[in-house]
Amino acid sequence: MRNADMDALLAALAGIFAGEGREAALRSAALLRGAMGGDLWAAQPNCGFEAELFATASAPGAHPAAALVAAAQPCLPWGTNPADGKLSAEAAAATASATLLGPGDPIRCEDLLVGLFWQRPGSYYALHNHDADETYVILAGGAVWRAGADKRRRGPGEMIHHPSGMPHAFQAGPQGLLAAWRWSGDVNFQSYTMLPDPEAPPEAP
Ligand SMILES: [Fe+2]
Repeated sequence: MRNADMDALLAALAGIFAGEGREAALRSAALLRGAMGGDLWAAQPNCGFEAELFATASAPGAHPAAALVAAAQPCLPWGTNPADGKLSAEAAAATASATLLGPGDPIRCEDLLVGLFWQRPGSYYALHNHDADETYVILAGGAVWRAGADKRRRGPGEMIHHPSGMPHAFQAGPQGLLAAWRWSGDVNFQSYTMLPDPEAPPEAP
């Protein structure tokens, strides 16, 4: 169905990735814009974490696009991350992705992916890497973000780029983490690998 809330979200995401400026980001932005007004979106079943997601999206200092994510929630296909099967049990329990653009997604593209990512407050998404180039933009909440040797607290509006193969891990803050992400380059999922991570908290007994 056509959905004005999805159109508003697509416009915001297009603006964010247009601002990144990389060629693949500009191409992603053009595809997101081109999908506005389309008949692409179906009502989705309750994802089970609406209340927590809305709390993250309305955290103080959120990027304006976070409210658009909350408004579009009835059509967001959470649980469609093709990497889900590769995640550790901890990461799978702590995170959710909704892929909007990609080879098998409503906005069809064979060599780019764009989606949303939510991470539960206080949870840890352990170190991993993949062949694809990746850019995250934080929309609400925040995390202590590890990208290669760089580790620091990140908040709304910050953009983090992971070149192909760079290990990354996120410790979500007390309000959780809501972000937009995109993949380009070699977007295969076979290469998605959870890595040994000495900084991972011990598993609960
Ligand atoms: Fe990644």
